[in-house]
Amino acid sequence: MRKPLVAGNWKMNGTRETVSALLDGLQTGLSGEKELGNKVDIAVFPPAIFAQQVADALTSTAVSWGLQNICTEEKGAFTGETSVVMAQEFSCTMVLAGHSERRSLYGETDADVAAKVDRAGQAGLIPVLCVGESLEEREANQTMEVVSRQVKAVLEQASPASLEKLVIAYEPVWAIGTGLTATPEQAQEVHASIRELLAKHDADMAARTRILYGGSVKGSNAAEIFAGPDVDGGLVGGASLNVQDFLSICRAAD
Ligand code: 13P
Repeated sequence: MRKPLVAGNWKMNGTRETVSALLDGLQTGLSGEKELGNKVDIAVFPPAIFAQQVADALTSTAVSWGLQNICTEEKGAFTGETSVVMAQEFSCTMVLAGHSERRSLYGETDADVAAKVDRAGQAGLIPVLCVGESLEEREANQTMEVVSRQVKAVLEQASPASLEKLVIAYEPVWAIGTGLTATPEQAQEVHASIRELLAKHDADMAARTRILYGGSVKGSNAAEIFAGPDVDGGLVGGASLNVQDFLSICRAAD
């Protein structure tokens, strides 16, 4: 039985003040709903510079946290990058790898993403591999071709040990930040195909790997999307910046 996971990707948003308000809201909201944290894993991905603030606020709560990106190198002359060891200094337990914004805006390749998954997983972090097709690719019926290529690159290049705790987030690019969502049927179809692909590689892995849906998830649509048998929760962008929306999405995963 896979425990659902709802994670908030804050992207490049927030100030000390708004982060503080968001963290206060999460603490207060969850203190009244202790059961929720037992039934649903909850995580947030703040900008790296807020890691200490997040750690200070969430240490004794049920919420985990991680970074939105990490470097594949251990240390050294890599200006602007953050290492896995640095993430762990701030008690991060997860890291996103290959978010579509990293792929499209910063040129991350499948090989780069696989290397990030490997680095994070080897260090004991939970890598959250993001995959998804563009609108053009969906309209050309290439959804599974693209998603399979993205997943296979990781299965082929990352070490088996790094994949023990792997989470996959299916985020159709056309649904990210657009207000458009995949229908529950579209989401389930892709999730089931991803699980089939994993099963060809390793049946146990296919059974245990959580596959999240991301792309304009809101309190109002989360329950129907999460109802799919292969949908194990969500990766939430915009709505994760609002405590009430985020908590209602967490509840929908229960
Ligand atoms: P939105 O929920 O804002 O569409 O963003 C989804 C996303 O990119 C999460 O990683």
